[in-house]
Amino acid sequence: MQKLIETKNLFTDFNTFEGVVKALNGVGLVVNEGETYGLVGESGCGKSVAVRSLMRIVQAPGRITEGKVLIFFRAEDRSRGIDILRRSEAYMTSIRGDSISMIFQEACTSLNPVLSIGFQVGESFHFHRRAQMLEETIRDLDEELGRGGFFLARGWKVLSRALFARELGALKEYEGAIDRIDHELYRLEEAGSGEPLRRKGALQRRRDRLGEKSVLAEIARRVPGFRRYRRRLERTVRRHVVELLRSLGVPNPERIAEGYPHELSGGMQQRIVIAIALACHPVLLIADEPTSNLDVTIQAQIVELIKSLKQKVISSVLFITHDLGLVAEICDRASVMYAGDIAETASVRELFRQPLHPYTQGLLASVPKLSQAGELATIPGTVPNLIDPPTGCRFHPRCPHAMEVCKGVKPPTIEHSPGHWVACYLYSDGKK
Ligand SMILES: Nc1ncnc2c1ncn2[C@@H]1O[C@H](COP(=O)(O)OP(=O)(O)OP(=O)(O)O)[C@@H](O)[C@H]1O
Ligand code: SF4
Ligand SMILES: [Mg+2]
Repeated sequence: MQKLIETKNLFTDFNTFEGVVKALNGVGLVVNEGETYGLVGESGCGKSVAVRSLMRIVQAPGRITEGKVLIFFRAEDRSRGIDILRRSEAYMTSIRGDSISMIFQEACTSLNPVLSIGFQVGESFHFHRRAQMLEETIRDLDEELGRGGFFLARGWKVLSRALFARELGALKEYEGAIDRIDHELYRLEEAGSGEPLRRKGALQRRRDRLGEKSVLAEIARRVPGFRRYRRRLERTVRRHVVELLRSLGVPNPERIAEGYPHELSGGMQQRIVIAIALACHPVLLIADEPTSNLDVTIQAQIVELIKSLKQKVISSVLFITHDLGLVAEICDRASVMYAGDIAETASVRELFRQPLHPYTQGLLASVPKLSQAGELATIPGTVPNLIDPPTGCRFHPRCPHAMEVCKGVKPPTIEHSPGHWVACYLYSDGKK
């Protein structure tokens, strides 16, 4: 299977007054093209920090201290990938919301209460699909001009068309320059040890300084009254927003687009957040507990929606949850996370059929079953404080199989059977 994105040995810390929270302890995960990958674990184990690190949106006082995040879908050599931790913020901005999108944990807090729904969904089209929006607007104006009309109205349309065409030209020039610089950066990175760092730094800065430089559009933007011509572009964007909302099952999308987040129910807000994430047809959709805080019927609808979108629009989904039932229902492969470490990774079928890591076994044993009589199994102890986490295997204070070796060095992750990875000394020294 072709890899889409991979994190290698990722460490993220939070410097707090109480001490350094070691939230990620060398996380390595892979999402392949075309799959739904689940990330499961108890609250506080680092699921959200892991995906925030992957998108480079860890907020202060958080900091990625070590590791790599490789993306393969933009790499010229698809077997090697591009380490996005070594690229500029401008490079990341071009990826976020475009190739990789995220549905955040709390739908209501990720929407801006003072901006209309239409504006918030439309921002993605403006930012990442500007060329397409301009082309469609020009096409509409051409059609209208072809139908004739009043002399003054025609004059205004001809002028608007010229301004949009100029803006489109400048945008294409800008995108061409960015592509050339990205190609050059990639070539320099491939050069390996003899990589001329100074040249790379200069290229990176040049890329960040580039902008859409259309003098005409800039004048038009600043002169009052003249700006009216841009309403044509807004109309094109709004058409796409309404189409998108309709495709996601939002009733009366024209009215909803005019409204504000507080006017919507939790389930509908979640659909809007999904719409924002999907506006640009990302190759990877990250869904961070998209159904928490929703009642079960709305939960089921949102899960069905993500499943159907996965078949139609998105290539891969990274689904975060602590609900093992959901993992069984929608994921192809999954990783179990514990206290900042990936404990086990396997296909969902294998994970449920033969869990290897004692933590996974404990998690599965604590899921209530209809046939079960008596008390439910639990994992003894509590999640450790990540300021002063246990040494070696972070699970050792709670593990029924803990050995002396477990307290020393973190267990290596080994491939126990094809595609089934586990980090536990029960397997790495051949005892089982
Ligand atoms: N801004 C922050 N400052 C300090 N510590 C933080 C911060 N954000 C996260 N952490 C710590 O990082 C660890 C992982 O947090 P994270 O939010 O990734 O957990 P999670 O697995 O997503 O949990 P949940 O299922 O509840 O969302 C936690 O111990 C948390 O306390
Ligand atoms: S490494 Fe040791 S403590 Fe950790 S899960 Fe395996 S047996 Fe338990
Ligand atoms: Mg979380």
